[in-house]
Amino acid sequence: MRYIRFLKYPRCSYPRKQDSSTITALITITSDLGESFCSKDVTIAANLVRDKDGESMGYKVHQWRAGMRNLLVDVNVGDITAYPMKLHIAAKYQNGDDSCEYLSNAGNYIVSAWSETLCLLGKSTIECMVERRDAGLILMSFLDAGITAGAIDVASLRETLATAKQRRLNCIELGTGCGIVGLGLAQALPNCDMLLTDLPEAMDVVKRNMLSARPAPNTTINFEVLDWGKDLPTTISSKEFDLILVADCTYNPSSMPSLVCVLATLARRSPGAMVLLAQKVRHSSEAIFFEHIAESGFIQNDHVAIPLPSDEELGFSDDSENVDIYIFQTRNSGDSLRI
Ligand SMILES: C[S@@+](CC[C@H](N)C(=O)[O-])C[C@H]1O[C@@H](n2cnc3c(N)ncnc32)[C@H](O)[C@@H]1O
Repeated sequence: MRYIRFLKYPRCSYPRKQDSSTITALITITSDLGESFCSKDVTIAANLVRDKDGESMGYKVHQWRAGMRNLLVDVNVGDITAYPMKLHIAAKYQNGDDSCEYLSNAGNYIVSAWSETLCLLGKSTIECMVERRDAGLILMSFLDAGITAGAIDVASLRETLATAKQRRLNCIELGTGCGIVGLGLAQALPNCDMLLTDLPEAMDVVKRNMLSARPAPNTTINFEVLDWGKDLPTTISSKEFDLILVADCTYNPSSMPSLVCVLATLARRSPGAMVLLAQKVRHSSEAIFFEHIAESGFIQNDHVAIPLPSDEELGFSDDSENVDIYIFQTRNSGDSLRI
């Protein structure tokens, strides 16, 4: 997958005559970690969308050319003070369906970018944070593993979680980042308590995303700080979990002992818990995670390699990559997941 990202926040310039204004933003199109740029021509649509009803208030088409590293986009808008709006930047040929399920299946997909609401009243410059929006969520940053994990078959997941068949599903996500995986599942899984955790730095983004989430019926979403290098808060260590989510968290070999230690501590309290790990391997040293988790008594019950949509058409070099999804448990349940 490829991602449109804002390099410079949308800004508004007012001409002398205050009857029209221009919103400008600097964007790029890259792989998820920004290692490579889009090397084919892509037509880009910049669309200013009114918050209250989604109506377009300004639209302009731009051309991304092979070899570019960034592109300045601009849109004229008439009455700047009229309504709160968001700037949406998308590849023109796509229909703008940014659901995880669609993205992880669609070939050559370029994930679009949304700005925050541009608050234009009485300001000469707008500065707003970089963000992405997906099915109602505002997300800071998407990565391939998170998108793929967010698209797993939740019906199968629910069925597989033997421990939770008769009661509410208790889930925890470690290293939730912007929350794409946990929030995505909380929107699809009814009767579920989803606890998102990460370092304190992630809290603001996650909480903003939680406000935009639409949980499935009877599902709750909470956030708590959980640093793998510290003792588990008692609010977490005293709970039993059915599902432990870990997406794109194995890239730093030095934190793997502490990550696995958290998994082992959680599993001691919840022996039937299923650990669902999503990983896009970035380097060979990530293999150390598997040594640590095996030493901690976990059994690998399932592994599916999901090929990422091919980027061949767009000229990217890393088109043969997979996202791997693993299921670990402390005892072999014999169940396997239809991912
Ligand atoms: C690459 S991000 C993945 C985010 C998310 N799971 C996803 O797939 O989009 C890795 C996350 O692990 C978190 N993390 C790294 N070290 C951590 C630690 N010691 N304790 C808790 N979280 C940590 C980071 O803050 C970050 O949000």
